[in-house]
Amino acid sequence: MKTFALYVSFLHLLFAHAGAAQHSPPPYIAPDYILLNCGSSSTKSASLDGRNWEGDSQSKFSPHNIQTTSNASTPTQQIPSVPQVPYMTARIFPNNFTYSFPVSSGLKFVRLYFYPATYAAVDKSKSFFSVTANDFTLLRNFSAFLTILALEPPAAVVVKEFIIPVLRTQCLNITFISLTSYAFINGIEVVSIPDNLYMNNALLGTGINFVNYHTSFYFDGTTALETMYRLNIGGNDVSGVEDTGMFRSWVGDMPYVIGNFGVTPYELPNVTIQYTTETPTYTAPEIVYKTFRSMGINVTANLNSNLTWNFTVDAGFNYLFRLHFCETIPEIVNKNYRVFEIFIDNQTAETDADVIVWSGSNGIPVYKDYIVSTPNGNQRKLDLLLALHPNVLVKPQLEDVLLNGVEIFKLNRSDGSVAGLNPDGVVVPTSPEGNIKLTESKRWSPLIMAVIIVIAVSVIILGFISFRTNKRAKKLGSRNVGDSNCSPLPSHLCRHFSFAEIKAATKNFDDGLIIGVGGFGNVYKGYVEDGSTTVAIKRLKSGSQQGAHEFTTEISTLSKLRHRHIVSLIGYCDEDREMILVYEYMNCGTLRDHLYSPDNPPLTWKRRLDICIGAALGLEYLHTGANHLIIHRDVKSTNILLDENWVAKASDFGLCKMGPTSVSITHISTAVKGSFGYLDPEYFKLQQLTEKSDVYSFGVVLCEVLCARPPLVRTASKKQVNLAEWFRECYHEDKLDEIVDPFLKNEITPECLKKFVEVAMSCLLHDRSKRPSMKDVVGGLKFALQLQGSSCDSPNSTAR
Ligand SMILES: *[C@@H]1O[C@H](CO)[C@@H](O)[C@H](O)[C@H]1NC(C)=O
Ligand SMILES: *[C@@H]1O[C@H](CO)[C@@H](O)[C@H](O)[C@H]1NC(C)=O
Ligand SMILES: *[C@@H]1O[C@H](CO)[C@@H](O)[C@H](O)[C@H]1NC(C)=O
Ligand SMILES: *[C@@H]1O[C@H](CO)[C@@H](O)[C@H](O)[C@H]1NC(C)=O
Ligand SMILES: *[C@@H]1O[C@H](CO)[C@@H](O)[C@H](O)[C@H]1NC(C)=O
Ligand SMILES: *[C@@H]1O[C@H](CO)[C@@H](O)[C@H](O)[C@H]1NC(C)=O
Ligand SMILES: *[C@@H]1O[C@H](CO)[C@@H](O)[C@H](O)[C@H]1NC(C)=O
Ligand SMILES: *[C@@H]1O[C@H](CO)[C@@H](O)[C@H](O)[C@H]1NC(C)=O
Ligand SMILES: *[C@@H]1O[C@H](CO)[C@@H](O)[C@H](O)[C@H]1NC(C)=O
Ligand SMILES: *[C@@H]1O[C@H](CO)[C@@H](O)[C@H](O)[C@H]1NC(C)=O
Repeated sequence: MKTFALYVSFLHLLFAHAGAAQHSPPPYIAPDYILLNCGSSSTKSASLDGRNWEGDSQSKFSPHNIQTTSNASTPTQQIPSVPQVPYMTARIFPNNFTYSFPVSSGLKFVRLYFYPATYAAVDKSKSFFSVTANDFTLLRNFSAFLTILALEPPAAVVVKEFIIPVLRTQCLNITFISLTSYAFINGIEVVSIPDNLYMNNALLGTGINFVNYHTSFYFDGTTALETMYRLNIGGNDVSGVEDTGMFRSWVGDMPYVIGNFGVTPYELPNVTIQYTTETPTYTAPEIVYKTFRSMGINVTANLNSNLTWNFTVDAGFNYLFRLHFCETIPEIVNKNYRVFEIFIDNQTAETDADVIVWSGSNGIPVYKDYIVSTPNGNQRKLDLLLALHPNVLVKPQLEDVLLNGVEIFKLNRSDGSVAGLNPDGVVVPTSPEGNIKLTESKRWSPLIMAVIIVIAVSVIILGFISFRTNKRAKKLGSRNVGDSNCSPLPSHLCRHFSFAEIKAATKNFDDGLIIGVGGFGNVYKGYVEDGSTTVAIKRLKSGSQQGAHEFTTEISTLSKLRHRHIVSLIGYCDEDREMILVYEYMNCGTLRDHLYSPDNPPLTWKRRLDICIGAALGLEYLHTGANHLIIHRDVKSTNILLDENWVAKASDFGLCKMGPTSVSITHISTAVKGSFGYLDPEYFKLQQLTEKSDVYSFGVVLCEVLCARPPLVRTASKKQVNLAEWFRECYHEDKLDEIVDPFLKNEITPECLKKFVEVAMSCLLHDRSKRPSMKDVVGGLKFALQLQGSSCDSPNSTAR
């Protein structure tokens, strides 16, 4: 399941720099704008995007008896990648509890922020609750825990966005109704919406056409909506602070495109967007209208196919589709130039969509609304397809289609509910403690780490990169997989396993063999070649386009690489829509586990240095040793695996990207992916990827290696959210002593420490061009090892 919620979860944090750089005020200033940091007693704390949150303990929005009817709590275990504000405090409700927001009348965005962790020793998988806002049921029997398990790509947090109409006489009352052990919330955001942005036909008295009935839908001011999707078609992610004043997040549409990806503008057209009274400036950010997706120049291909997006929704609701258009190609100024059909859920929504006719001119944005009803059958989830096809009957000059943005909202049922059911078929792994430690360091959860925030939205097509992930059309291993850059799967380089073999190797996916769990699926320990070879078997959830893409990327990349410090891919299985990868088994698990898990004795300094050098050699090979530059993009301590001899190997190449072969281009533009906390700040600022982004992430790993114990993130101190920043600060304040793992203090020589810190600091330089190459990093670390000399072989040589 891909949900809107997933994406908003952290996008608002991402573009803090970009947002801060915007000086002009947004087109819309919300009269009501409330950010409530639940479970916090500080009056003001800033999230990473620079927005100020008010603690709820003393807030006027909280009931007077808040201290006796609820508890403030912090997660018992924390992962560094989850931002402090608003996620590191929560309010826990054993019984019904209401926040009351006195707001002006009109439509409000209500955003609920959840980080399902273990609070106050209560099992997070047992928390089921409902949430209402005035007469509307927003969530019913909701499990934040089950919701994130189904998110794809995996995430640690979830944000739900709703639009609630507030009548003149009402407060906005948000009530949490605990059904089992407790209800909880980490943050609540309330933002006004301009009157005539959504459901404005309520004011005009005009209806919106149903695509599947010959009738219209009339909003009458009593409808609540839940945001399902908000996409910047053909473009990158747009964070909340870059929105038009309502803090909506827009995400790239790549993960939703099926079949041919068509084309997106190689460079932004040099156009100005001219907003109108029908489409005012706050409708959508300019960047949404400046980017688009269309089919391309092959007319034969265009006429034989649709440009299609696939959206999974809850069954049994009506949905509002808002499609945004803006014709920005300079030549297209006349009507009948580009005319196309629009299908929603296989029904014709438009036969001759002509954006120039609708908008009046090039550069003028316009949007169209449609309502789709979905049957309430046995299914929980349905897939709605949005498809565009050129209309040839009217003989347009261009046989092509166009789309710039999409928003999809779920409408409340007649009982006032927009609540869907919990995701179905989520396999909740059983663990001996009965407490599922997914977000924490699950023992040996390699390759794809369970629920670390992956900032994974989409891969932006550059002119020369075009992937296809249409599973129906795809038979892995055949030439159909893609064109140009996406090479076919090399069955001659790694073994093709049958599904039967995989089932035998894992005792039919026996839960007892699970060694790692993630949103992408499980990792099993398995035995192949008649039990003689131990392997790690990663079974990706089927039906995932994102997964399919990363599956092919991982196979095509890894099968060609053979290096002592790169985890070997032994084979794969793609039978029956299965996506299974078979790797060499790494006895000692992840570096992260050895740094953080209390189950493991601390590693000696010498061992840590060896591991760092090994991992650095693996990355150096990726950057310079293979035929093409390969950028790993997701370097972190969970992706550094250790074999039985403590040899470090880089793993998890699902996100990696081939660098350009031409030396003149020093970066490739791509959607921001990777794990928060390890991300090169320049990468998410510029959306430009170079091998120096890996160097930065590796610098973060070096910090972890030096400071791992005590735990990285402690509560009540903002500073420690971002390890790199914290490390840098301690370095400049000459306080590194305080953060070096106490276990290392007697072992590490001052000269070695100095050199090691120097290497780490150079990797973390903001200016990429000043960061060292991986070759220099290897050199620096080897030198540090020499400086450590033999002194480390002495006292604890029995310790690991
Ligand atoms: C808050 O926590 C304390 C200690 O765990 C517990 O005794 C109390 O019942 C809790 N109060 C509520 C309202 O949950
Ligand atoms: C909590 O709210 C629900 C729904 O409004 C209501 O049915 C229930 O009785 C309430 N429980 C308590 C203890 O007030
Ligand atoms: C909201 O809560 C306030 C105070 O708790 C109450 O007076 C008011 O009636 C409630 N309004 C609605 C619409 O439930
Ligand atoms: C873009 O537009 C600006 C102002 O209209 C103009 O000065 C500039 O030359 C244009 N650039 C290109 C590449 O067309
Ligand atoms: C255009 O598409 C058709 C059908 O998909 C294909 O057979 C043909 O080779 C394509 N032409 C070009 C020039 O790529
Ligand atoms: C495009 O999609 C519509 C609706 O799903 C379908 O009826 C039509 O056959 C499709 N056209 C092509 C060429 O695939
Ligand atoms: C909609 O069309 C797609 C392909 O165009 C097809 O696979 C699907 O079964 C159709 N769905 C319905 C409900 O007709
Ligand atoms: C949405 O909920 C409101 C309030 O319960 C109700 O009046 C309205 O009829 C509902 N809308 C629909 C479309 O069922
Ligand atoms: C709540 O959801 C869980 C998980 O989907 C389900 O097992 C349970 O039966 C549901 N409870 C109610 C009261 O619907
Ligand atoms: C749409 O996406 C869902 C979930 O990812 C998938 O199961 C389904 O097969 C997709 N539909 C099509 C027509 O590709």
